Amino acid sequence: TNLGTNAGTGKIDWDAKLVQSCSYIRPVQKPVNWREYAYPFVYGQVDDELFSHSEWRDCARQALGMRNFSTMVGDFGQHDDPMLVNYICSRSLPRRGIKARPEQILVTLGAQNALYLVAQLLVDQSKHVVIESPSYPDLRDILLQRTKAITALPVDAGGLILDEEVLRRADSVFITPSHQCPTTHTMSASRRRQLLDMAARHDLLVIEDDYEFEMNFLESPTPALKAQDNDGRVIYVGSLSKSVFPGLRLGYMVAPEGLIQQARALRHLILRHPPGHAQRTLAYFMALGHYDAQIRRLRRHLAERRRVLQSAIDAEGLFSHSAAHFGGTSFWVSGPDWLDSRILAERAMQDGVLIEAGDVFFGRDTSPLNYFRLSYSAISSERIPEGIARLGACMRKLKP
Ligand SMILES: Cc1ncc(COP(=O)(O)O)c(C=O)c1O
Repeated sequence: TNLGTNAGTGKIDWDAKLVQSCSYIRPVQKPVNWREYAYPFVYGQVDDELFSHSEWRDCARQALGMRNFSTMVGDFGQHDDPMLVNYICSRSLPRRGIKARPEQILVTLGAQNALYLVAQLLVDQSKHVVIESPSYPDLRDILLQRTKAITALPVDAGGLILDEEVLRRADSVFITPSHQCPTTHTMSASRRRQLLDMAARHDLLVIEDDYEFEMNFLESPTPALKAQDNDGRVIYVGSLSKSVFPGLRLGYMVAPEGLIQQARALRHLILRHPPGHAQRTLAYFMALGHYDAQIRRLRRHLAERRRVLQSAIDAEGLFSHSAAHFGGTSFWVSGPDWLDSRILAERAMQDGVLIEAGDVFFGRDTSPLNYFRLSYSAISSERIPEGIARLGACMRKLKP
């Protein structure tokens, strides 16, 4: 890490002081100024055109009013905004087929914070964890802080391929059944049943990361895995980053009350609670119908963009790609075997096109280099064909 040379006077040997190095963490990278690029196929970002600016501003103003003064300025100990929690219970979760009481919900700073809390509470060196391959890089890095015993099982078009020999030795499994991250596939109904049966047989906990749960526009979505959970062994994690905006940093977890109490106590030590003003603004945004309207608009545009992107890819004839049934916000693309998508990403960037190289989604020893992700959440339909044509041209130049 060599922190000593670039942290202040250089008189302190920081490498000797640090008890934990975070240099191993490999998030998905994008340039900070990605909005300045003409063809941003970046994932998880908000398109200015699709966000309900004035409605959000009105809700923020209401949340600042005298009626909400105590919510905004107060420090509510370990609790969350009841208005937001009630809305999540009564409106959001039922859409995913989940019934939960307020005591079974913890508001977190994004799904990320929920995954971190769960890992702190349920994973240590004595535990064996199963994840998907490929998977969300930050999840892998969160778990690596806790244990070396991580097995990544491959996924196919039906989601995680269940290997009972591995699962029976595991303590928990972290999965993205609705839209597998990053391949976008949806776990089949039969595999869901089998996974829950295996979990019951081997006393396994299942952490369901439903990070894109509102982004279904092609068919009506399957209910969450949590909806089929009779034993309370599925811990459900939701995110508002895709349906509202990622900088809001709000998400939640749903779990049996006892576990939520533990997570609440741990959250208290780290950050007490997510800001009251943000929670109340979101609660108004939901209660006044703006959230539903925004999701309808997003879905309409995403469906159109997806169609345009699909035909642009087909027209280039260069890639094969995954086909998610329900929608989502991205394509997972497998290029030809010779492709190093890191180099492609660099070259394309010089031509105004941003894509995400896929190597970071795999374990360090196993990374194939020919995959990449193309998201359509932050690029308009009109720009998509030219962006893909440029990407295709870059690829042809790289061909050996
Ligand atoms: C699979 C997956 N899980 C969790 C997260 C974190 O979501 P949040 O922004 O709610 O922290 C992301 C973010 O992109 C993600 O892709």
